[in-house]
Amino acid sequence: MSISYNEQERSFRLDTPGSTYLINLVDEEGFLCHAYYGRRIPDDTMRYLLRLGPDQRPFRDSGQQVGLFDALPMEYPGHGLGDFRESCLSLETEEGHRVCGLTYVSHRIYGGKPALPGLPATYGGEEDCATLELRCRDRFLGLEVCLLYTAFEKLDVICRSARIENRGERPVTLTAALSACLDMDNRDFDLITLHGSWAYERMIQRRPLGWGKQGVSSLRGISSHQEQPFLALAERAATQEHGQVYAMHLVYSGNFLAQAEMSQQGLLRAVIGIHPQDFAWRLAPGESFQTPEAVLAYSHTGLDGMTHALHDLYRNHLTRGPWRDKPRPSLVNNWEATYFDFDTEKLLDIARTAAGRGIEMLVLDDGWFGRRNTDDNSLGDWFVNEKKLPGGLKYLADEVNKLGMKFGLWVEPEMVSPDSELYRAHPDYALQIPGRPPMLSRTQLVLDFSRQEVRDCIYDQLHKVLSEANIAYIKWDMNRALTDVGGACLPPEQQGELLHRYVLGVYELQERLLRDFPDLLLENCASGGGRFDPGMLYYSPQIWTSDNTDAIDRLRIQEGTALLYPLSTMGAHVAACPSHTNGRVTPFATRGLVSLPGCFGYELDLTKLTEEELAMIPGQLENYRKVGPVFHSGDYYRLASYGENGEYDALMAVSKDRKTAVIDYVHVMSRQRRRDVLLPLRGLDETTRYRSGETGEIRSGAGWMYGGMLLPRMEVDFLGKLIVLEAV
Ligand code: GLA
Repeated sequence: MSISYNEQERSFRLDTPGSTYLINLVDEEGFLCHAYYGRRIPDDTMRYLLRLGPDQRPFRDSGQQVGLFDALPMEYPGHGLGDFRESCLSLETEEGHRVCGLTYVSHRIYGGKPALPGLPATYGGEEDCATLELRCRDRFLGLEVCLLYTAFEKLDVICRSARIENRGERPVTLTAALSACLDMDNRDFDLITLHGSWAYERMIQRRPLGWGKQGVSSLRGISSHQEQPFLALAERAATQEHGQVYAMHLVYSGNFLAQAEMSQQGLLRAVIGIHPQDFAWRLAPGESFQTPEAVLAYSHTGLDGMTHALHDLYRNHLTRGPWRDKPRPSLVNNWEATYFDFDTEKLLDIARTAAGRGIEMLVLDDGWFGRRNTDDNSLGDWFVNEKKLPGGLKYLADEVNKLGMKFGLWVEPEMVSPDSELYRAHPDYALQIPGRPPMLSRTQLVLDFSRQEVRDCIYDQLHKVLSEANIAYIKWDMNRALTDVGGACLPPEQQGELLHRYVLGVYELQERLLRDFPDLLLENCASGGGRFDPGMLYYSPQIWTSDNTDAIDRLRIQEGTALLYPLSTMGAHVAACPSHTNGRVTPFATRGLVSLPGCFGYELDLTKLTEEELAMIPGQLENYRKVGPVFHSGDYYRLASYGENGEYDALMAVSKDRKTAVIDYVHVMSRQRRRDVLLPLRGLDETTRYRSGETGEIRSGAGWMYGGMLLPRMEVDFLGKLIVLEAV
């Protein structure tokens, strides 16, 4: 068991292969202090790091309680008792008081990991992980908190969450309930976060940690294009391969706060959880609140170590279902091919061309339902438009199936157009505040998914659609942020619960869909990558990475995404040129190379391709079949970033048995280079000899890694190469 309690030291110890996490109970009262997290050590206590001194008087007898608290590293800090840094837990009592603090009650250690009711979470059996439940309480409020810690046996990952239970006799309102806190000394850290915007998601930002609070957050009701619920603290000297990195990532799809705070004397507190702004949760006596899960990863092998731990965790202990480990079907999606302008014949033309080249699935995107020929109507009316699609989806799906292809469909269940039958019948189903006209975005409103009857109404429609035609795949889209957050069914004192209840509603509906259609392949999407987060991965093993389908922009978007997410989770399609995003023209082959590592597909009118382009498709699909599994299940290495070097981009994946490696290289922009690019590879076995499928050269893993691979200088911009190394 990787978790133990040392009674004498009053310390809890959590071990993963490369890391140790130590908690100390301090003072007679049993304050839960964070003693150590970092590289694995044999010691059971690191109490000295708390700087309490050798003969500490009981806190109660100390005249300096406030000063002590304000510098003590805590596991789950409360509020208003002398620790003036960010609180994990804050609340308001009926009397309007806001003070709370936790001390130890009991604990339990066991193999495996419990599910979190209603929430996505990582999972693992007794052979994979062990869990510590640390029960603590505020003895004046009758409030108990169960802190959950799971340590994974084979991954340097610890997952945390908190369950807050009102065991008192009067209600309290939680005003903050974060998922995890990490207190330690600043070791000259940089803060790494991901930022972006629509069509430009997950750009990597690294900056020196400064004094005060800094971090990222979302108040949009979704995790957002703009920020990712993640932060990493990397030693200033840490690189891809070397140095210590601490990461926090939230398994949640709504508002969040991920914040690092450097206070006096270089004390560092990092927290992550649901954003306290726009959050309040009333807990009646006997009720409990479960926070989302925070993933903590520790690496002493630089960013690679962090990336590999997260990739393995998300592939093996977060994504679920029959598609988790299976090769994902190549697809053609009609959105950028036709937008709303299609009919059955047009779609079948595309499908025939696709089938002839070996593409496995046709996905029908927006515009098949209600009266939808533009984006300003019909959301909420999930019945087929027979004018466009005579014979309905059944006829179309059957015809596509006859071609030997699967059929997939787009939906946007959380939305309603004011111009829809649903809205006319149930205007109150939309989020809004009485007397205030709600704000439109893409001419649509958000359904109040916190309400059971609203979810049922949408689900019944979806169930019918899915039951009437052979639909193998659903793209679940979500195309606006939440505003006018008012719920028709919640009393005033519970309106602050709405945003979280909304997220829980989305999870409940996706869970229902998977339960009733267990073979369905679900792909989440939110105007591209607006809700690309670990929460959604629990339901869909793949997510549409970005609406930006330009191959060159995609290099950076996918690079930032792959810092945290396995390549097997990223939807990536060869799209039309000039690019609908930015007008850029790139070769068809390069567009293929950039999409290949992800869940591969096409998003253009295949019937308009040249013979030469069409002829490339079978080769691209053959590559996807052959090296797709290495990208999807192997170890990923970010070799070169054109965002950093301004010239070329390269990623690499190495199969887990280290017998095959694939290098995906794109030359972006010519500089004054007169020599071939030298690319030191990573992740190979030093003594194994590998042959390059490109040049036939044979070299040891050490040679390829420490000498490097020479990549031919390209005479033209936007060309690339796929190089496969096989062990000989
Ligand atoms: C969003 C998605 C796109 C497409 C459109 C359809 O923008 O990200 O891929 O499905 O909606 O309206």
